[in-house]
Amino acid sequence: LLSSPVLAKEIFRNTVTGQPLDLSKAEVGKNPEAVKKFEQTGHNPLNGNEQAIEKGERNFLTACSGCHGHHAKGKIGPSLVDDYWTYTTNATDAGLFATIFGGARAQMGPHYSTLTRTEMLQTMAYIRSIYEGKASEAEWLTSKEREALREKRGNQ
Ligand code: HEM
Ligand code: CA
Repeated sequence: LLSSPVLAKEIFRNTVTGQPLDLSKAEVGKNPEAVKKFEQTGHNPLNGNEQAIEKGERNFLTACSGCHGHHAKGKIGPSLVDDYWTYTTNATDAGLFATIFGGARAQMGPHYSTLTRTEMLQTMAYIRSIYEGKASEAEWLTSKEREALREKRGNQ
């Protein structure tokens, strides 16, 4: 059921209000295949993609680091590299996308007019690539990927 495109659209909701997001407010950008796949599954197909991560880092430095710090460890906005989330939905790709797209509270505004959906996915891939938290809290990973990270981390 979760892979049904029609149902999957239901998972993109504003982080704070729960209102459905109108994805058409942001341009698709340069990787329509990735955007389509993401919107059908809720999983970011660019996770682990080195090229996308590099672009994502550049997007992050332009659009996010002023508030979240140059390595996303927190400044005005919270750290995005640890496993504590104000909104637990951010531990999923669909939830992280929703926060970027639609914003949260205070200075965390929506980014649908400043980033394309491709750029949002790249930025998300960058954020996931610098994750320092426990493997067990990395909800966006498949159980296989989580197990691999756990081993790399020495069973954390
Ligand atoms: C919260 C990502 C840009 C300020 C958050 C959260 C995420 C996020 C995922 C929620 C964290 C959690 O649940 O613990 C991003 C990304 C950005 C960006 C990827 C760039 C595309 C900005 C900018 C500002 C900002 C430019 C300041 C003008 C904040 C603040 C919060 C926050 C104050 C806390 C909001 C709340 O708790 O409701 N951000 N952010 N962010 N961000 Fe950003
Ligand atoms: Ca955090």
